[in-house]
Amino acid sequence: MQRRQIGSSDLQVSPVSFGTWPIAGVTSLGVNDGDSLATLRACAELGINFIDTAYCYGPNGESENLVRQALSESRDEFVIATKCGVHYNEEGKQTNDARPEQILRECDESLRRLGTDRVELYYLHSPDPNVRVAESAGAIRELVTAGKVRYAGISNHPLEQIHEFHTVCPVVAVQLPYNMLQRDIEQRTIPWCRENNVAVIVYWALMKGLLAGKLRTQSDLDANDNRRGYPMYQGQEWEQNQTFVDSLRDLASECDQSVPSLVINWTISQPGITAALCGAKRPWQLEESAAAMNFQLSEAQHGRIEAAIKARGKAAAKRLFT
Ligand SMILES: NC(=O)c1ccc[n+]([C@@H]2O[C@H](COP(=O)([O-])OP(=O)(O)OC[C@H]3O[C@@H](n4cnc5c(N)ncnc54)[C@H](OP(=O)(O)O)[C@@H]3O)[C@@H](O)[C@H]2O)c1
Repeated sequence: MQRRQIGSSDLQVSPVSFGTWPIAGVTSLGVNDGDSLATLRACAELGINFIDTAYCYGPNGESENLVRQALSESRDEFVIATKCGVHYNEEGKQTNDARPEQILRECDESLRRLGTDRVELYYLHSPDPNVRVAESAGAIRELVTAGKVRYAGISNHPLEQIHEFHTVCPVVAVQLPYNMLQRDIEQRTIPWCRENNVAVIVYWALMKGLLAGKLRTQSDLDANDNRRGYPMYQGQEWEQNQTFVDSLRDLASECDQSVPSLVINWTISQPGITAALCGAKRPWQLEESAAAMNFQLSEAQHGRIEAAIKARGKAAAKRLFT
C-alpha cells in the first residue's frame, strides 16, 4: 500500500483520497445511497485510507452521514478529513460563517454525523469576508487542544491568509484546486508548503470529469448537468480540452491504463503534491482513480505530457490560487 505522510503530522495516507462531494447529491446527477455506500466500502480494497468530506457536503450532512454508515466498523483504518465554516442557510444556499462559535458548533455536529470522537484533519473550508482568519484559526486550535481534531488544515485561502492562520494554529495541510491545466499553485503556495513541511492536498484533478476522457461531446452531459456552466466546459475551451484529452489517450493505452488513472498518476507525482482528492459516485470510477497508485511514468512519458500541456496552452478559466 502506498502511504505518504501529511506534512509534520503522524498521519499516513494514500495519495489517492476519496472526495465525497459527489455523493452528497447536490450537483452530481443520478446519486443513490446504495452506490454511494458501495463506493465508500470499496476504499479499503482499493488501497484508499483517506476520506475527504465537509460539514456542507449536503444540506443535512448527507456525505458525513454516509461516511459513518459505511465505515463505522473500520473507522480506525481511515484518516478522515472534514471542513468547517460553510453551511446551508434558510434559503437552502451555501453561505460562509467562520466565526469561532459557529466552528465549535459545526465540529460537534460533524463528529456526531461521522459517529466518531475525533477527526484526523479539520480544515477551515473557505474565506469568510466578515471574520479574520486568525479568529477562525483560534477556534480550530481550541479543538485541537480539546482532542476533537488531531490536526488543522486550511482550504481555498490565498497564501497570505494561510500564513496568518498558520501563525495562530499550525497547519499540516492545505487544500486547493490543481490539475494538468490549472497549475497556478505551483507559483507560490507549493514552494511555501515544501519549505514549511505542509502537505498539499489537491482537488479537481479530473476537472470534475472533463479530464477523465468519457465526456466526448456536449450531448454526453445531461441538460441539467451544472458542469455546462463551467468555462472549461464551454465553446472553444471545451474543444481545446477535448483535443488535449485526445493527446493523452495513446499514452494511457501504452501504459495499459485508463485516461483518469494516467491523469491522477501525473497529479500525484508532481513535486510537492501529497494527495489528490478524487470524486466518484460509483465504485468503478474510484477503481480507475485508485489504479493511479500502481504504476510509474517514465521521464520520457512525463515529457510527452508536458509537451501536450504546452500545446494546449493556458486555459482561459478564471485564475485560481497562486
Ligand atoms: N475544498 C474545497 O472547496 C473543494 C472543492 C471541490 C472539491 N473538493 C473535494 O475534492 C473532491 C474532488 O472534486 P470533485 O469531486 O468536485 O471533482 P473531480 O474529482 O475532478 O471529478 C469527479 C467527477 O469526475 C467524474 N469521474 C470520476 N471518475 C471517473 C471515471 N473513472 N471516469 C469518468 N468520469 C469520472 C465523476 O462525475 P460524473 O459521474 O458525474 O460524470 C465525478 O463526480 C471532492 O469530492 C471534494 O471532496 C473540495
